[in-house]
Amino acid sequence: MNDWQKELDQLDRQGMLRTLRVTEGGQGPKVFVNGHEVLLLCSNNYLGIADHPALVEAMLAATRQFGAGSGASRLISGTLPTHVALEERIANFKGTQAALMFNSGYAANTGIIQGLLGPDDVIFSDELNHASIIDGCRLTTARTVVYPHCDMAALAELMERERPKRKGRWLVVTDGVFSMDGDMAPLVELCDLKEEQDALLLVDDAHGTGVLGKTGRGTGEYLDCLERIDLHMGTLGKALGCAGAYLAAERAVIDTLINRSRSFIFSTSLPAGVAAAAMAAFDLVDSEEGRGMREKLERNRVQLAESLTSGGMNLLGSTTQIIPVLTKEPEPTMKMTGWLLEEGVFLQGIRPPTVASGLCRLRATVMASHDATDLERAAEMILAVYKVFAE
Ligand SMILES: Cc1ncc(COP(=O)(O)O)c(C=O)c1O
Repeated sequence: MNDWQKELDQLDRQGMLRTLRVTEGGQGPKVFVNGHEVLLLCSNNYLGIADHPALVEAMLAATRQFGAGSGASRLISGTLPTHVALEERIANFKGTQAALMFNSGYAANTGIIQGLLGPDDVIFSDELNHASIIDGCRLTTARTVVYPHCDMAALAELMERERPKRKGRWLVVTDGVFSMDGDMAPLVELCDLKEEQDALLLVDDAHGTGVLGKTGRGTGEYLDCLERIDLHMGTLGKALGCAGAYLAAERAVIDTLINRSRSFIFSTSLPAGVAAAAMAAFDLVDSEEGRGMREKLERNRVQLAESLTSGGMNLLGSTTQIIPVLTKEPEPTMKMTGWLLEEGVFLQGIRPPTVASGLCRLRATVMASHDATDLERAAEMILAVYKVFAE
């Protein structure tokens, strides 16, 4: 009956057991793990602003004014002035009519897909989309057609095959930057295709917003097709350094979600402090300081990626600050993580089900707050440990 421990023991024997590691000392470039100072190379705090004084002060001020908790869900008494102000700011940032906050990216993707689609509708989803998109597809009554990663010819063919049966809406959904591979979706081609086929495009830009494009509007801005995207999902807990997520879209889409999205309706809203900190984060992204951070992040990304590729590593086509090092099997991957930690580099190994079997990796993430010397040393360590465990 109660055989969970046996299942855990089996996971352990397979090198697949997951345990929690405590990170102390903020989300700066250096943190403490098990009492040792290490270089943090696996945080999504890409701009390095999670502990920025502007965010912390905004959070404290709003918390003093509105309290630590919001007290209820948004449709009851949990809609605060800070939520409304942030939603206006996000809509303005992405150039849409309206926006809606969710408590996390996971809640957003599950709630958006479930809330917008019905039994006559079809979703076309990239095979490497984030788990929250996959779970959103599982929660909706719409049918899901999975297309091979970034393969536009295959997607077009699947759409042609579906066309004679079409009864309702079509939604194409993709990560903007793929969370485990660090490559970008071909958004221009996706826009062409969705316009040709009268479909909608939902882009999860969790890893692009704040980072990519001249003004940090994300993958759509970087690829020069921002205004052609119908549904802009993004998170506030990565480059923006806070917590939560949003959808920016036309007003009728947002009003539909307010009426139908279960993860939005049945959950206590985020505290005012989080929304106020996110507002400060958007101000930073729009400032000269923010532009400087994006430039530094890009320099850091190029430095680490070039050091690793010149050492012969396979970075799986990454073109962004997410730099995976393919290690294939779980056991060597986790040994490498342990060894690197002892040598002062915190770089988490990624195993199935997060990635497919045989595609384990060390997922390095660069931050604007890293410095060149630390990144150089980290690259040397990664190359050294790779030689011992993975070759
Ligand atoms: C592409 C993508 N979407 C959504 C999420 C979920 O966001 P959150 O951590 O805010 O739940 C993640 C988180 O890792 C992600 O990588």
